[in-house]
Amino acid sequence: MLEQIKTTAKYIQNKISDSPEVGIILGTGLGGLVNEINIKHSINYEDIPNFPVSTVEGHSGKLIFGELGGKNIVAMQGRFHYYEGYTLQQVTFPVRVMKLLGIKQLFVSNAAGGTNANFEIGDLMIINDHINFFPNNPLIGKNMAELGPRFPDMSDVYDKAIIAKAKNIAAKNNIKVHEGVYFGLSGPTFETPAEYKFIRIVGGDAVGMSTVPEIIVARHMGIPCFAMSIITDLGVEGRIVKVTHQDVIDAAAKAEIRMTLIMKELIREL
Ligand code: HPA
Repeated sequence: MLEQIKTTAKYIQNKISDSPEVGIILGTGLGGLVNEINIKHSINYEDIPNFPVSTVEGHSGKLIFGELGGKNIVAMQGRFHYYEGYTLQQVTFPVRVMKLLGIKQLFVSNAAGGTNANFEIGDLMIINDHINFFPNNPLIGKNMAELGPRFPDMSDVYDKAIIAKAKNIAAKNNIKVHEGVYFGLSGPTFETPAEYKFIRIVGGDAVGMSTVPEIIVARHMGIPCFAMSIITDLGVEGRIVKVTHQDVIDAAAKAEIRMTLIMKELIREL
């Protein structure tokens, strides 16, 4: 695996002019950030050796290199999910590659169901901790000691200094943000009311099907991380309604401008 990561990083290094300092996973609600990037190179996932191949036809992702807020960045347009059938090693492979390309920070976004009764649809939540409820862990298997320790510390996963900056930016721009715990699980089913209740009882403020694997792998390699959720539906007793993927996309679109502003300013201020 380490050899594959190195081969992929070398292939990309031969195509780009500047090493990226910042990695971004453009999850739901950050798609618009692409328009803010001064794009220098864009590589389709299917052209990148060892990259997972997209399962959705005609929906291939791209690795985008360019400048944002005065920083050289690499952005994943399109991410891989466990529920699509990838292993967690495949899901997190691009994060490994980004580390070898030189990133010093990782920024991630996602859509999530709110289980905290103070949340409304369309709200933003800065993730300050997570619960890994995926039935697996991306670090299972032989440890790549060159990249990080066998038993990585998880006491301080989401960078407190970046969180403080994000809260400042939100306040300055009159954007309401919550802080809370992201409960990551496999999907693809949304939760039953009993499951939402369980998630709340054990300490989750929001629940979603991504992010945790990528963050675990980034922290294994010592990369400071920042992640944010858009609350697209509610898993709060009495307020649970049927939810479709389209509802999630529509709710995320409404919050996209706010999320994009925070991320962009944050990267500028790094
Ligand atoms: N549950 C899990 N994942 C999600 C949800 C949810 O309610 N909303 C958006 N992604």
